[in-house]
Amino acid sequence: MSTKPVDLHELASSAREELADAGDEAALEKWRIAYLGRKGRLPLVLRGLGELPLEERRRLGGEANQLRQELESALEAKREELKQQRHTAAEETGRLDVTLPGRPKRVGRLHPVTQTMREMLEIFVSMGFSVIEGPEVETEYYNFTALRIPEDHPARDMQDTLWLEGAEKDGAPLLLRTHTSPNQARFMEQHQPPIRIAVPGRCYRHEATDASREWMFTQIELLAVDEGISMADLKGTLFEFAKRMFGQERRVRFRCDYFPFVEPGVDMAIDCFLCGGDGCRTCRGEGWIEVLGAGMVHPEILSNMGYDADRYTGFAAGVGVERICMLRHGIEDIRAFYANDLRFLEQF
Ligand code: DAH
Repeated sequence: MSTKPVDLHELASSAREELADAGDEAALEKWRIAYLGRKGRLPLVLRGLGELPLEERRRLGGEANQLRQELESALEAKREELKQQRHTAAEETGRLDVTLPGRPKRVGRLHPVTQTMREMLEIFVSMGFSVIEGPEVETEYYNFTALRIPEDHPARDMQDTLWLEGAEKDGAPLLLRTHTSPNQARFMEQHQPPIRIAVPGRCYRHEATDASREWMFTQIELLAVDEGISMADLKGTLFEFAKRMFGQERRVRFRCDYFPFVEPGVDMAIDCFLCGGDGCRTCRGEGWIEVLGAGMVHPEILSNMGYDADRYTGFAAGVGVERICMLRHGIEDIRAFYANDLRFLEQF
């Protein structure tokens, strides 16, 4: 037990003296650690108080606390003083021009496609769909074969594929997925009905780009499999989605379409927001813009997944997120999304 008398006066005067001598930030910090830091001289005194007789503890405790406050504010004052000196020096040498306008801070934001994707997912989630994700580098099997698009079948020509040269998995070539549909098979293999999933993700195609086609784009895949699911569920779900996304006044059109993995297949279009249906560059003269493909999951796929196709039915849909975003904001050219022009991106 230390009983060495504590000389607060000595501590105080050497602290004041050394502080006055400190000429820069580094010296200030050194001083702070020496006197006020966790193992500094003053905290040491305060910690040692417990060993003293009550009377002395009171007296010394009061004084030490007072000294701490004094030293803390002296430190602040010194800091301010040094800062002022630095500024004056900088002004004198012309390094600081206080008349210059301030630099605005740039605030980041989500990409418009991400914003739209989240809005869309929110709608689907509110309808009971769960969000899951799958790989962007895909096998030929999941991207095509499992979806009833066999090798050498003309249906493969519907999607211009980017193959990964020299990469393969179990001897089979790899590719960048051309759609999010492979996740239908991926999910069904692992799960039993009832199924309600929404799968967002990037897709890639070897395409000549134009105002409505990009080589990289985003889709959300929907899949619902259960007992008693019919075309009415498909239309109800997708029409409800369109109305929530675009307002009650938007018109939608369902037409027959062919996708090898559904039967029957449909495409859903929305009336063109730019020309009101007269025909323009964005709708390529049609007055309608296709926003998604959909259909009743082909029974053959359900059986291939090990489901009883007499008992279970399902619908699937693939929605292009960029298209939806374009409709929402009146964007005329899909290429603007990935041109990295801040003047465009900062509007959202
Ligand atoms: N995968 C199709 C495409 O990218 C879109 C699609 C069509 C998805 C019909 C579906 C569907 O789930 O049922 O062109």
